[in-house]
Amino acid sequence: MAEPFILINCKAFAEGMGNRGQLIAEAAETVMEESGVQIGMAPVYTEIHPISHHFRIPVFAQHIDGVAPGPFTGHVTAAAVRHAGAVGTLINHSERRLTLAGIEAGVKAARAAHLETVVCTNNDPTTAAAAALEPDYVAIEPPELIGSGISVCKADPEIIRRSVEAARRVNPKVKVLTGAGIQTGDCVRIALELGTSGVLLASSVVKAEDPAKVLRDLVSLVTVTRREG
Ligand code: G3P
Repeated sequence: MAEPFILINCKAFAEGMGNRGQLIAEAAETVMEESGVQIGMAPVYTEIHPISHHFRIPVFAQHIDGVAPGPFTGHVTAAAVRHAGAVGTLINHSERRLTLAGIEAGVKAARAAHLETVVCTNNDPTTAAAAALEPDYVAIEPPELIGSGISVCKADPEIIRRSVEAARRVNPKVKVLTGAGIQTGDCVRIALELGTSGVLLASSVVKAEDPAKVLRDLVSLVTVTRREG
């Protein structure tokens, strides 16, 4: 993904599905075109196909199972979400935790299906462990701040700084996102100043009456060098 990257996780919120999900996708597409900031969306599985086919935004799955296509009833493979139109996937979100072996299997399966990988972590030691698995991104999200409305960028900037350092130490190619309570352009500015490549967020956009208004605020302090073509 181009930087900076804002990824909207719709979780299983009612406000992220159906017509509302499409409103969020449309807002993401509009603000991405206006600002040049890359804005992606991770809807529920059943919305991956319609959203990826109707809107010019990168669509991510919220989770994949680290198995190859085969006899795995009820599993969701990387190949399946890729086929539906996803270009990437979250792995190990705080609300969908995996074992370290499960994370590794997920990263490998996603890579085999040409999906970008965002491995979520809860502190700097887990960021270091995740970075060793060579995902495209790690996303540091302190669980206690998720959905709290209190921004990690303001409440605990040190955890972001330490996670950026941990990822760089283990594998400088792995980019870092941060999330939990991200709501404003100021949060995004601080996240970028701390060395991240962007943010992962949910409630502030998904539950907003006017998602485009919130997204415009989120990108308002970001400077983007536009690429040609
Ligand atoms: O994946 C993003 C999420 O866990 C953060 O949630 O509602 O605090 O932006 P929220």
